[in-house]
Amino acid sequence: HTAVDVIRAKRDGGALSDEQIDWVVDAYTEGLVADEQMSALAMAILLNGMTARETARWTRAMVDSGERLHLDVGRPTVDKHSTGGVGDKITLPLAPLVAACGAAVPQLSGRGLGHTGGTLDKLESIPGWRARLSVDEVRAQLRSVGAVICATTEGLAPADRKLYALRDVTGTVEAIPLIASSIMSKKIAEGAEALVLDVKVGSGAFMKSEEQARALAAALVSIGVDHGLAVSALLTDMSTPLGRAVGNAVEVEESVDVLKGGGPQDVVDLTVALAREMLSRAGITADPAAVLASGEAYETWARMIRAQGGDPEAALPRGGHRHVVTAAADGYLTRQDAYAIGVAAWRLGAGRARKEDPVQAGAGILCLAKPGERLVEGQPLLELYTDTPEAIPAALATLADAHGVGDEPPPSTPLVIDTIR
Ligand code: URA
Repeated sequence: HTAVDVIRAKRDGGALSDEQIDWVVDAYTEGLVADEQMSALAMAILLNGMTARETARWTRAMVDSGERLHLDVGRPTVDKHSTGGVGDKITLPLAPLVAACGAAVPQLSGRGLGHTGGTLDKLESIPGWRARLSVDEVRAQLRSVGAVICATTEGLAPADRKLYALRDVTGTVEAIPLIASSIMSKKIAEGAEALVLDVKVGSGAFMKSEEQARALAAALVSIGVDHGLAVSALLTDMSTPLGRAVGNAVEVEESVDVLKGGGPQDVVDLTVALAREMLSRAGITADPAAVLASGEAYETWARMIRAQGGDPEAALPRGGHRHVVTAAADGYLTRQDAYAIGVAAWRLGAGRARKEDPVQAGAGILCLAKPGERLVEGQPLLELYTDTPEAIPAALATLADAHGVGDEPPPSTPLVIDTIR
């Protein structure tokens, strides 16, 4: 094979053979196919697509570029992946809840880039907490606690790490076969037997339309089935932030509220819905709502945080500067736009512009009102927190059109739109 032959085949609308796919992914990982060649191929894939067969093979080649973990921890293993949203802290209460129900939950996670937050960035606001674990530590913690949330280990799907960085700078992120194979290669390499995908739809999501989100969910599930995983996907709403907290430490605080039996209803509902689906994929009969109410999920959370060096009782940081946004008129809050709130929190310092930048643990936004609630002019609507007050004007500019207020309450929209198995 030569890279040019593979690029030409895809450029002209053909399907790549298994041998071509195996060769090009391997040769790219080894540095034998150059970045400019792989970016031409990625663009041809973006424009001409890949069949389900090609996508499954491409994923397999990316898994085979690195190691595949063998967990073998004495309980059924199940993981969840979210395509990312604003205020999406669900992994934090979900992993200990599903572990408290009897599964082992290896949640290898990433950092945030752009307006969606990263699970590791949120947890790093807990004093002492450590994201990097060795494979042996992951296995030991799955046996002793049942849940681990940590950084992806270097050896998993190295082809994806290289290709994702390339796609990021060549305008080729937005191709469903490439997104689906990227996500699934990491999850398959991680070694869990079952997987539930939370595919977000709406302004704050990667996929803005339901049609795109359904196509991505179908591609993800199809790759999982091809690799022998017990897999399903929930299509869930991301037009408005999840819960009331958007940021890092503030999202940990809200997650702890949920684990202690309180917290916003949407966060509780989605956590329980995903837990039910994960337990069902893992073949475990337990009632996650009852386990959450019993306090056992909080106990598991505290053990999980301590096992990784954190203090679950420690006070969490809060940005030193506070700014309150008030309601401009009387009426029902009809709209609170996830994308605008996400970008504003990011500008306040909760997210990063380049992947080597640090994040502020205490930066973020608290939504004091949620869609459907009645407002009186002048009442506090949002609380902004940051350590860099010079960022506040830019955050406010982003928020200028984030809210809608009307005489009628908005129609209620379902949080879980569909389940794809
Ligand atoms: N997340 C990933 O892991 N990969 C993509 O390609 C897009 C989102």
